[in-house]
Formats: sequence, C-alpha cells, structure tokens
Amino acid sequence: MDKYSHLTPSAGRSGYAVALTSDDVDLDAFTELLTPRGQEALARAGELAGADPVAAATTLRRTYDAALTSAALTQAGLRERAKAKFGEDAAVMYFTPHGLEQSTRAEVAEHRARRLQTMTRRTCEAPTGPEAESAAAPPTEPAAGKALHVVDACCGIGGDLLALARAGCAVTAVDTDPLTVAVAAANARALGVDDRVTVRAGDAARIRPEEYDVLFADPARRTGRGRTFDPMAYSPPWPVVLDLISRAGLACVKVAPGIPYEFIPEGAQTEWVSYKGEVKEATIWTGQGGGRGGRWTGRAAGRRATLLPGGHSLTAAGATATPAPVGPAGRYVYEPDGAAVRAHLVAEVAELVGGRLLDPLIAYITADDPVDTPWATRYEIEDILPFSLKKLRALLRERQIGNVTIKKRGSAVDIERLRADLRLKGGNSAVVILTRILDKPSVLLCKPLSPA
Ligand SMILES: C[S@@+](CC[C@H](N)C(=O)[O-])C[C@H]1O[C@@H](n2cnc3c(N)ncnc32)[C@H](O)[C@@H]1O
Repeated sequence: MDKYSHLTPSAGRSGYAVALTSDDVDLDAFTELLTPRGQEALARAGELAGADPVAAATTLRRTYDAALTSAALTQAGLRERAKAKFGEDAAVMYFTPHGLEQSTRAEVAEHRARRLQTMTRRTCEAPTGPEAESAAAPPTEPAAGKALHVVDACCGIGGDLLALARAGCAVTAVDTDPLTVAVAAANARALGVDDRVTVRAGDAARIRPEEYDVLFADPARRTGRGRTFDPMAYSPPWPVVLDLISRAGLACVKVAPGIPYEFIPEGAQTEWVSYKGEVKEATIWTGQGGGRGGRWTGRAAGRRATLLPGGHSLTAAGATATPAPVGPAGRYVYEPDGAAVRAHLVAEVAELVGGRLLDPLIAYITADDPVDTPWATRYEIEDILPFSLKKLRALLRERQIGNVTIKKRGSAVDIERLRADLRLKGGNSAVVILTRILDKPSVLLCKPLSPA
C-alpha cells in the first residue's frame, strides 16, 4: 500500500484526513517518532497542518523517509483531531486512531479523578435535597500522607490515567496492546507525570487489585465488528471486570451509558455523566466509598447524575423515591438532561421545577412556571394536538412555520420522514415534540428556544 494513501485531501480542519485504522501507526514508527529526529519531523508535520496533504507529504519526504513522514503526518493529524477532547494538551500528546476514539474526554476524566480524591478523604454521605453538591466539593479531612495508588486495568492511550496522576494519584497502568502502552507512557512523559506513572503491557485478568488502593477499569467496547453494547463482549469481558471489582477495596468502572441495569452490581453507585447535554458514560463505583473504612450506604448508594462542565450533581432522593406526579399540560414542557433520565432521576428534576409528568412512562415534565435549571431544557407550549400528519401540516402552514426542530420520546414516528411529509413553508420557526400523553400519540407545538 502506498504509505500516503490514508492521507486524503477530504480532510476537515486538520488539512489531511487520517483513516481510522491502527495500521496507520505501528510500534517501530512510533518509537522512531520519539527520537530527536522523529520529534523534528513531527514538529514540521505540525507546522504543515492545514496544507494540501500531498504537498505536506512531498515537503517532509525531502528530509525524512517514507515511514517517518507517514508517522509524523498521521500523528500531527491525530493531534489536531484530539483538541476537541484534550484541549491544548493535545498539541504535545500522542495517539493511535482507536486510542483517541476510545479515550475519555479530559473534563470527564478530571471530574472522575476529583471525585475519587474527594471520596477517599471524607465520608461518602451524600448531601440532602435533590440538588446535591458539586463533585468538586473540597474534602472535609486532610489527605492521608501517602498518594493513593490506583491500578488502571486497561489504560488505552491514558486519558484517565493522566487525570488521575495529575490529581496526585500514583498510577500503575496495564494494556494488552504494546503500541498503546508505548503511547500512554509517552503521554505521561509529555505531560510531566511520569514520576507517578508506570505503564506495562499485560492482561487485566492478571492484575491483583488487592495490592492497590483503587481499581479503575475502562474496558474496550469495540469488537472486530465495531462498537458493542453488550458488556459480555467488552474486553476484558464483564465477568473478568466483576471478579476484579470483587477483590478491590474501592473500584471505579467506566461503562457505556446504556449499560443494561441488570449488569450493575448490587450496592454500587452508578453515576451517569453528560457533557454539554450529551450523555457520555456511566461510572460504576463499588467498595469502600467512604474512604478507608466507609461504605456505600443510604443516599450514596444507587443512582447519581452529573452535568459537565458545570459540575452539578443530582442523587436519588432515597431508596424508595416517590414517583413524579402526573398531570395536565401547563405552560411549559421541560426535557430533562439524558444523564438524569438514565439515572432514573426524572422525579427529582420534576421536583426542582415544580412540575409533573405528562405521561407516567415518558420523561417529559410540564409546569406552569418558567424555572431555570441546568437539568432540563424548557420550551413554551403554544398548542397541543392529537398526532395527525394532516392536522399538524395544516397548523404549521397556518402559522407559516418553515423551520422546525423535531423531538420525540415515546413515539415511533420517523423524524426525517415526517419532516419531508410536512412540506414545510414559511419564515417562522417552532419546536415540535412528538410524545404520548396518557398513552395517546400527541404533538406539542412549542416556541423555539431564544438564543442563549
Ligand atoms: C476504552 S480503552 C481505555 C481508554 C482509556 N480509559 C483512556 O481514557 O484513554 C480500553 C483499552 O483496553 C485495552 N484492553 C482490552 N482488553 C484488555 C485486557 N484484557 N487487559 C488489558 N487491557 C485490555 C484495549 O487495548 C484498550 O486500549
């Protein structure tokens, strides 16, 4: 294969596209990239970001061989792409295509590391009231003298281990893939935390969690056929993860936000985290949540939702939480954040806005007053009608609505098909919400959100 065939001018902002296959980065080429000559090639490739890809390759080839040219351009492209997850740090970090794709966004990893720090320094009693403390709340007791020793059982390129090390933890990290291990170690050096980090190639199943203060695991959710939603198909698979958890003092496992609830171990706290309104992950915390000697009890066990970057957290109001009331539509409809929905905390959000559900089984809240909350997006209802394409089309025509945002919960309607069938015309905008109200397919026509 031509060494540059994966660099195409279809590129995006980085100037050249990098195909998503790990074949584009190999251990030898990566090792060379870390030499002084490799660093020089990488710096040149970084300067050429945005240039025509073929011209960039031709320029580098005047000085470097094909392998180093390819490795440098690929790495520079990955750094550009990684800015969205790692911000300014991306400029000095190293990636593989899969490693970048699977890595935890810096803000989410930092949140988790802060929580771990907080948790191990104070009791894990959650605050009262549905709106709980920010995860970044300061510890109430001084840190124990020795750094917390965390084992990261499947570290990838190091998104989590870097945040843990920056939070002051000592981290021993393992990954089955030698290239990924080299990349994670290079990242620890690049960010100046290598004095606290040890990375080695190995299988998570051989880790002895008993030897560490904390087990962290972020199993791979990719198989040869793409992403998997089945924890039994994670790598390492779920039974291995459960075995590690059972032997750990305190464990923290990152999983897909859609993890089937039956996989969550008894007595664990599961935290669903969203970033800028998109649910990113769930984290299962088990073991001595209250620090050395503490346990997950009462409110601290169970479900928690966290919004980033704001750091707002919400916990279940108790093991036997009262379900949200159900009642007629008020002036507003509130769409709760996905983290609260996944954490089954819709009743708590309803309480925050003084609202009720439109339907007992659907996560749309209605209320009479406009309450500002980070936990839900609010729309003002203009009309409610039983779902009928003809009636909806007629109403939108009458109001000259040519631009709609369509949302749905509890509706099987195909949004794009509906949009085409509505044959929209006119200069006005609206939000159309398709749902069921007391089991009847219904449409809420709402005012568009005013720009923030
Ligand atoms: C989701 S990634 C970890 C991402 C990491 N937390 C980050 O933020 O960069 C999962 C990693 O697990 C590794 N892996 C898969 N099976 C493993 C096993 N049995 N033992 C150790 N590592 C494994 C994969 O090579 C992959 O790099």
